This record gives sequence, structure tokens and C-alpha cells, in this order.
Amino acid sequence: MEIKTLGVVGAGQMGSGIAQVAAAYGHKVIMNDIGKGFVDKGFAAVENSLSRMVKKEKISSQEKDDIISRIKGSTDISDMREVDFVVEAATENEGLKLKLFAALDGSCRQDVILASNTSSISITKIAGATKRPHQVIGMHFMNPVPLMKLVEIIGGLATSDETRKVTHDLAIKLEKSPVEANDSPGFISNRVLMPMINEAIYALFEGVGTAKAIDDVMTLGMNHPMGPLALADLIGLDTCLAIIEVLYKDLGDSKYRPCPLLRRHVDAGWLGRKAGKGFYDYSS
Ligand code: CAA
Repeated sequence: MEIKTLGVVGAGQMGSGIAQVAAAYGHKVIMNDIGKGFVDKGFAAVENSLSRMVKKEKISSQEKDDIISRIKGSTDISDMREVDFVVEAATENEGLKLKLFAALDGSCRQDVILASNTSSISITKIAGATKRPHQVIGMHFMNPVPLMKLVEIIGGLATSDETRKVTHDLAIKLEKSPVEANDSPGFISNRVLMPMINEAIYALFEGVGTAKAIDDVMTLGMNHPMGPLALADLIGLDTCLAIIEVLYKDLGDSKYRPCPLLRRHVDAGWLGRKAGKGFYDYSS
């Protein structure tokens, strides 16, 4: 099966990044979100990322225009009837994803694979919201999508070998490196990453060090490209909380208890870079 047109549901930082990468590798893309404002924001993020690449002379401005011209905005989920493969990258909320997959199941052709970019939610459960569980899979990109090589691929209980192969081949076509993980809360990436981020927040909460000191230890001492608190701000603190809550609830182990300081930041709307404030200030 040839994938010509890719549907991306959700035009946030992950969805717009996936749309950008798919378009950069020649696919037509339908980028869908619930309102025009969200779709416009998605296009602005693509424009911004591609402009950086033009500035660095990684692509020409003609290539940038061609990539953008391959992406069509949409606010109607039934537009997904035109696509050959879907990646859902909506907010990390189980109820929302179950509703979206039921809607996608109704809109998409029967042969179409429905992939979720979920960071932690059970693929088997998401597949259960559709009548095509063998064609539902996790395709988990990393942020920022245009730069990060990894795509974590997660099969649910019913996911077919054919679905795994098509998804794997698509990741390769996008010049990503697919790694398979089993359908366990947080998969591999967030089973390892989120406890580290949560622990860094506990260290801040308990006054073990300042935010800068904690991040400096991990960048200078462990060679991480950015510290865990700066990374949490990049991912979004609401997303971090949603993921660590899935680990806590579904694995039932108190070691995943979300740090109260993380909850407080989310309650305050200090969600990280996208809000202009998180553990650091991005207002200037
Ligand atoms: N689009 C295009 N280019 C971009 C970009 C974007 N969105 N962001 C940065 N760049 C480019 C810059 O122009 C720069 O290009 P050159 O190397 O040619 O100069 C290059 O990328 C490096 O950028 P910066 O110098 O601004 O910053 P940096 O060296 O600190 O790199 C980073 C930025 C790639 C984000 C790096 O800090 C990094 O790898 N951080 C860790 C990211 C990470 O862990 N991501 C995974 C998060 S977990 C996740 O996503 C999954 C989940 O479920 C939560």
C-alpha cells in the first residue's frame, strides 16, 4: 500500500512537527484540529521551524514553500476520508483519544491504519474504541519532531504484523529510527524519562538545588543536551503531569507519584515554553 496522503489530527507542537516532516518527505498532509486558530498556530510553527532551516541553509526558500504547500488545514474530522494513513497527536487525554479514534474509524477508509502519537496511554485501549483494532498502532515521535531521530512503535494486543510493517516502513521513509516497545504504560521512552523529570522536580521542591543547578548537573555532568527541568518546559508541564499520572495509576506503584510542585505549576497555568513560563521564564 502506498501512503500518498497522511492525516495528522492535532496541530500542536507534535502534530505540526509530524505534518512538517511528512510534507518534507513528499507526502500530502491534511492537518486537522478543532478550530481554525489551532490550525493557524500549527502552520505558524511549521513556518518558524522551516525558516530556521532556510537560515541555516539546510533547505532553500523554494523547498520551504513547497513543503508548506503540501499541507492542507482542516477543522472537520470527516476530511480524513481522503487520507491513506493517520497519525493522531491530540492532547494526552484518554477520553478525548477514545472519542477521536471512534470518529476516525467512522471517517477513514477501511484499509487505513490509525496511529496514535500518545506518550503513555494504552494502544490496546485506544484500539478498542474502533472496529479495526488490528490496524491501530502507537507511532510515538519525539519533540522537536524535525530534529529527533526516534520513533517508538507500539503494537497493541490485536495489532497485525502488516500494520507494524507499514508503520515501520513509514518511519524509515521519514528518515527516523523506529524502535519497538510493548504496550505498557509510558512504553520505554516515558517509563524512563518521566520518573527522571519527576525526580528533578522533587529535588527542586525539597530544595536540593536551584532549577539551574539541577539542570547544570545533568547537562555538564551527564552530557544531556538539556536539563530535565528545561526539557519538562519544552515538553509542556501539563503533558508531563498527564504522563506521570498514567504511570502512577496504571502501574499502581507509589514511586511514580507526581510531585506536588508539578501539579501546582499546572494549576497556575505555568505550562512551560508554550505558556511563556514554567520552571524558567520565557517571556522576553
Ligand atoms: N525546527 C528546526 N530546527 C530547529 C528546531 C526546530 N523546531 N529547534 C532547533 N533547531 C535547530 C537549530 O536551528 C540548530 O541548528 P544548527 O545545529 O544547524 O545550528 C539546532 O537545531 C540546535 O538548536 P539550538 O542550538 O537552538 O539548541 P540545542 O543545541 O540545545 O538543540 C535540541 C536543541 C535539539 C532541542 C536539544 O537541546 C535536544 O536534543 N534536547 C533534548 C530533546 C529531547 O529530549 N526530546 C525528547 C522529549 S520527550 C518527547 O518528546 C516525548 C514525550 O512523550 C514527552
